[in-house]
Formats: sequence, C-alpha cells, structure tokens
Amino acid sequence: MKGSESTGAAYLECTGTGERFESEELHGLSPSGKPLFARYPLSTLRDRFRPEDLRGRSADLWRYAEVLPVRDPSCRIGLGEGWTPLLDTPRVARRLGLARVLVKDEGQNPTASFKARGMALAVSRALELGAEELALPSAGNAGGAAAAYGAAAGMPVHVVVPADTPLPILEEIRILGANLVLLDGLISDCGKVVRKGVEESGWWDLSTLKEPYRVEGKKTMGYELFEQLGGRLPDGIIYPTGGGTGLIGMWKAFDEMEALGWIGPERPRMFSVQATGCAPVVRAWEEGAESCRPWEGARTYAAGIRVPGAVGDFLILRALRASGGGAVAVDDVEIARWTGLLGEDTGIFAAPEGGATAAAVPPLLEAGLLSEEDEVVLFNTGSGLKYVGMAPEV
Ligand SMILES: Cc1ncc(COP(=O)(O)O)c(C=O)c1O
Repeated sequence: MKGSESTGAAYLECTGTGERFESEELHGLSPSGKPLFARYPLSTLRDRFRPEDLRGRSADLWRYAEVLPVRDPSCRIGLGEGWTPLLDTPRVARRLGLARVLVKDEGQNPTASFKARGMALAVSRALELGAEELALPSAGNAGGAAAAYGAAAGMPVHVVVPADTPLPILEEIRILGANLVLLDGLISDCGKVVRKGVEESGWWDLSTLKEPYRVEGKKTMGYELFEQLGGRLPDGIIYPTGGGTGLIGMWKAFDEMEALGWIGPERPRMFSVQATGCAPVVRAWEEGAESCRPWEGARTYAAGIRVPGAVGDFLILRALRASGGGAVAVDDVEIARWTGLLGEDTGIFAAPEGGATAAAVPPLLEAGLLSEEDEVVLFNTGSGLKYVGMAPEV
C-alpha cells in the first residue's frame, strides 16, 4: 500500500523551551520538567501521505502509521483501538438546541475507554525502546488500559489508584494481571508512590504526559474526526478534561494536518468540561492564568476528571484560548442527569465524563461560547458499565 510504512518521529521537542532530543531513546519529561512532543518530517510526508492513502487501511489507529512513533511493526501492541464511531445524534441536537451534535463514542475501545489509544502507543514504544517494567498512577481507566496493553506486550505493570476507584476498573486491572496498589488519596498521591518505584526499582513511568507517546495515541481522535466528517472539522469539540491528553493531542493533530496540507488554518473551538468539585482548568481559564493552581479537596463521581493538577495544564489552556473555545464546570447531579438523557436519546450508555460534555452545552450556549448554528462533537470517553452504582440520585 502506497505510503503505509511507518517512518517514526524525527526528534522530540520540549513543549516549554523548544529544545530538541533524540527520539530513539527512552525520555520522560524534558530537563525543564515539561512534556516532550514527537515531531515528524511533515514537509517530506506531505507528498506521500494524503487522506486518499488511508482508504482500505485497517479500521484502527494504526492507519495513521506515518504520523505515529513506532518504527518496528512487530512492536505494535494492538487490541483493536481507535476508529470508534462518530454518531449523528439529531435528538440530542434538538434537546440541546444546536444545529448538529455528533458523539464520538470512545466507550467502544478495548478496555471500554479512550485510554486504550494512549496506552497502545506508550506500551508499544516502551517495548520498542527497551523499558522492562511499567507503572502509572491512574484515576482508573488509564490503569485498566495499561494493564491490558502490558499483558498484551508481556510486560509487568504496576498500577496505583485511589481506593474509591470504580470496582469494575479494579477488577479489570487485577484480572489483566497487573500489580494493583490501592491508596487512600487522589491521583496526585498515587503519583508519589510511582515516583518512588521509578527511583528505587527502575519502573518506566507512564503517567499522563510524563512520557511522550500517550498523547500520540490520543491525537488520532483528531485525525479520525477529519476523516469521519469527510475531510473537515466541526465547529466545536467538548472534551471532559482531567490531564488533558486527548485535547492536547487533537490540537497537535490539527497542526500536523495543516503542515501536511490536509486542512487550512481553521480550527474547531475547543471546550473543556470539568466537575464543579474539581475544576482547576476552568478556574485558570476564568482567571486568565497560563497554568493551573492545584485543586484542593477534589470531589466528583466522574473519576476520570477528578484530577487536581496536570503537568500539561499550560498546553490545555493554550489550545482553549487559541481556538476561541473555553471551559465550564458542571455539578455531579447535572452530569448524572445528562448521562441519562444522552442514553435515552442515543442508545449510548455513556461514562459520566461523556455525560458531562452534554451537560456543558446549556451553560456554553448561555455564555455565548456556542451558538445554535454550531455543529458540535461530544466526546464520550468511556462506557457507563465501568461506573455502575456510582451516580448520585437525580
Ligand atoms: C472516562 C474518562 N474521561 C476523561 C478522562 C480525562 O482524560 P484526560 O486525562 O485526557 O483529560 C479520563 C481520565 O482518566 C477518563 O477515564
């Protein structure tokens, strides 16, 4: 197939300073403590990687091999991740008062969440570059995905999660053979345990944006939107934001697509939704700040967005502002109510994080950040099956 061979990244770039690093060695954060981005030879790829080259390729994220970092095809650890449906949902559009609403149903990924995308790439690269033991703190779903891809790669995985993580996710992590550590605390406390394991036992840290490749898996959501909409992007994207990898990844994908000549300078407006009980990005956006202050006493049943602080906060805020988008917080009762309405209108049993994206629309319309002519994509980032029994009474 023309242009189907993977080229890998040309180098890694510090998102803070722009400094460049060798791509074929294991790297965590840059020396200045910022995430590293994989950069590809896009001006060379421009002539031999065109949207029409994607026709007939595998219905998973590996269809974008030219802009993915894995070089050796035998290191691709795949469980069928990506190429999830983008569902047109006219009843949701009518209920919300928007011209068109599409739901990107990421609950249909392996391990029932979009975390599969990031972990497929992070574990594949860890294997390719010689890491031996993997570890991460997780709000839940990333732990399940890491356990799955570690098992598929034959690599040991340590997952540290808050003790009140939804039970189905705990069972998933155990069944998939990972070493599960439960902690009375938040994901930030779990991170401290992982850092100790990294220093003392040589674990390879898969924390959000602390290695360069989870974001490469997540960015494929941006490429898929373009392809599934027939070669264009929507007016708005609403994304439930914890560490922000998916939002940052899609923003990166749009820049890559422009450099490849697939799109022009136009961009969707990017919106973050968070829970009122944990909304560091919303607060920073409202304050006009460039980074977030850690959120004290984070609380929401939408476990994936119960993230008090994120290493890529400045990248999230930059994308929200550059796109003309914004950020909004919704409370748990509204999240539960909209998860139900979304279900009734579509047949999708969404994760609460997905329900939150629908709950975000009324306040965004009221604030004038969305308008009734808009075509908007809601990201349902996971399946409701993982949160059974967690929702508050509506
Ligand atoms: C279902 C779900 N939605 C959203 C998020 C937040 O994702 P991100 O870290 O990319 O912001 C998570 C993270 O755990 C999640 O599990």
